[in-house]
Amino acid sequence: MNTNSLSFTPIKIGPLTLKNRFIKAATNEGMCKNGIISKGLSKFHEEVAKGGAAMTTVAYCATSKDGQTFIDQAHLSKNTTKDFKSLTDAVHKHGAAAQAQITHAGAFTFLPKQFSSLKPISANGGFNKFGVMTGRYLKQKMTRDDMDKISNEFVQAAIHAKESGFDAIEIHMGHGYLLAQFITPFYNTRKDIYGGNIDNRMRYPKEVLSKVLDAVGNDIAVTVKFSQTDGKIGGNTIEEGIEIAKILENSGAHMAQLSNGLNVESIDTMFGNPLPKSSVKPKNLIIRVGMLMQPKSNEPDKEFKQLYSLETAKKIRNAVDMPLCYLGGAQNISNINTVMSEGFDAIGLGRALIYDPNLVNSLQNGSVRNSGCTACNQCVTLMYTPGGTACVEDGGYGGHKPELNTIPASQY
Ligand SMILES: Cc1cc2nc3c(=O)[nH]c(=O)nc-3n(C[C@H](O)[C@H](O)[C@H](O)COP(=O)(O)O)c2cc1C
Repeated sequence: MNTNSLSFTPIKIGPLTLKNRFIKAATNEGMCKNGIISKGLSKFHEEVAKGGAAMTTVAYCATSKDGQTFIDQAHLSKNTTKDFKSLTDAVHKHGAAAQAQITHAGAFTFLPKQFSSLKPISANGGFNKFGVMTGRYLKQKMTRDDMDKISNEFVQAAIHAKESGFDAIEIHMGHGYLLAQFITPFYNTRKDIYGGNIDNRMRYPKEVLSKVLDAVGNDIAVTVKFSQTDGKIGGNTIEEGIEIAKILENSGAHMAQLSNGLNVESIDTMFGNPLPKSSVKPKNLIIRVGMLMQPKSNEPDKEFKQLYSLETAKKIRNAVDMPLCYLGGAQNISNINTVMSEGFDAIGLGRALIYDPNLVNSLQNGSVRNSGCTACNQCVTLMYTPGGTACVEDGGYGGHKPELNTIPASQY
C-alpha cells in the first residue's frame, strides 16, 4: 500500500499554506538550559524540517517566567527573538514552516521557589497538589484583572513569535495547563460566568483565542491544541470535547490539534499507554514523582494501540468543518491513509519523529513503511537530561550533544 497521495498535497491553515499534511507535534525538548533558545533546539527542529514534515512545533514556549513549568524552558519575549529567529531561519531553509506552542502553566509549575510566584494562579483557589514539592501549597483563583493580564501575555507572546519568524502559533488548551485548568471540571468549580457548563468553562480560553486572533491572525496561523477527553471519570468526556471544538470553530481558530488526557491524572490517555514504571529512574525528581503519581488501579495497563484517539476524533470530525489535525499513535502508512480517508486535514506526529525525524521523506520515497518507534515512552524520561528529549532506540535521533543546549542558537 502506498501513502495516500492526499497526505503530500498542500493545505491552507488561515493565512498559511503548508506543503503537506505532516505536522511535528510539540514534544517538550528540554533543550533550553536556563531558558536559552539553544543551538541544540534549533538543530532538533531543523532535522524535522529536513526530514520532510511541513511544519515543526516548538514545544512549551511560556508566555512569562511565571508561566513556565520548569526552569530550562523557553519564554517568548523580546530577549529571545534573535535566537528564535535563527531557529525559524534554519527550518525555513528546508521549505518547512515553524510553529510556536504558547502556554502558561497556571498551578502546574515546578520552578525553584525564587523564580516565580509562591501562590500560582489557576481557575480555582485552594490546595495545590502540584505545589507540594516546591512549597506552593496554595493556588489563587484568577480575578478579572488577572485574566486581562494573562490574556495580554498570550497576545505579547504571539507578537514575539511573529517577530521571530514563526509561521504559526499553537495556543495550548490541553493537558492540564492554565487554560485547561479552566476547561476541565477537575480544576474549575467556579460559580461565576467562568465556571459551570462547558460554555462557561470555555469563556476565558475563548477570550484568549479571540485576542490573539485579533493581534496576529491576519499574518500567521493561530491554531489550538486541546484534550478531546480528560480520560478520567468526572472530567470532560467526548460530549464536551465536541462542544469545545464547536466553540473554537465559531471563534475562528485556524485549526485544532486533537490531543487527549491530562498530564498527571490520565497520562495514559495522552500517550495511549502509561509512562515506563519501576525499572526506569529519571534523574529529574519531578518526572520521577510524576511517574509514581500515574493513576494506580487494579486494571491492567492500557496497551498501546495505533491511532488510539481515532474514535473520539472521528466524532469531532463529524461535528465541525474547521481544519483538524489528528494526533495520537500514527506510526505507519496504513495509519496515515486511515486518518486522511476519515477526513482529517493534517496528521500530528510526536514520538515517531523523535525516533526518526526523516520519517516523512522516507514514507514519501517508499524506503520506510513503519516507524520503528515502540511507544516505550522512555523519551519522556529523557526530557530534562542534559541532552534533552531523544529516543533511546538505535536508529533514533538520539546522541544530542548536551553542550549545544547551552549555546544560544544565534551565536554558533
Ligand atoms: C517527550 C514528549 C514530550 C511532550 N511534550 C509535550 C509538550 O510540551 N506539549 C504538548 O502539547 N504535548 C507534548 N507531548 C505530547 C505529544 O504532543 C503528543 O500528544 C503525544 O506524544 C501523542 O502523539 P504521538 O502518538 O504521535 O507521539 C509530549 C510527548 C512526548 C513523547
